[in-house]
Amino acid sequence: MRQDKVLGEFIVNGNRQQTAFAPHKTLLEVLREDLELTGTKHGCELGECGACTVLVDGKPVLSCLVLALEAQGRAIDTIEGVADGPNLHPLQDAFAELNGSQCGYCSAGVILTARKLLESKPNPTRDEIKRALGGNICRCTGYIKIFEAVELAAAKLRGEDAQPTKETLYGH
Ligand code: FES
Ligand code: FES
Repeated sequence: MRQDKVLGEFIVNGNRQQTAFAPHKTLLEVLREDLELTGTKHGCELGECGACTVLVDGKPVLSCLVLALEAQGRAIDTIEGVADGPNLHPLQDAFAELNGSQCGYCSAGVILTARKLLESKPNPTRDEIKRALGGNICRCTGYIKIFEAVELAAAKLRGEDAQPTKETLYGH
């Protein structure tokens, strides 16, 4: 059956972009299939895994549960906009340094959720990090590496000369 498309405008990572899309599509589908931003991952499509997390107007949102029509004209941040040109965000650096990312399927959602946390709370406790990331499921890391990477990035963002320790690099 032929599906008519609508023309929509999205503000993604600060850039206004127009695209034609089928009106039943979710924000996740439009990001990946119509705007070719495949860093946002397609997981359960049920709101359970967090892989599809993006920021909408600065807040973490499960893009598999939002109609693209509803996201028009709102500020959408995806993993493609997290680095500053060639310079990785401290969260990306810390995840790479501490192996907070293994297969990487959860990483975009985790990093965007963590970015929002560190913007509102620059020095979170381990429990606050756990709570903030409670909706982001990782099947690989066991979470400790993720929590340590967020703590290292938080310290770097606070301007501290933080370095990985032997324990965070090689395990406990
Ligand atoms: S794909 Fe959206 S929560 Fe799993
Ligand atoms: S790194 Fe594989 S799902 Fe998290």
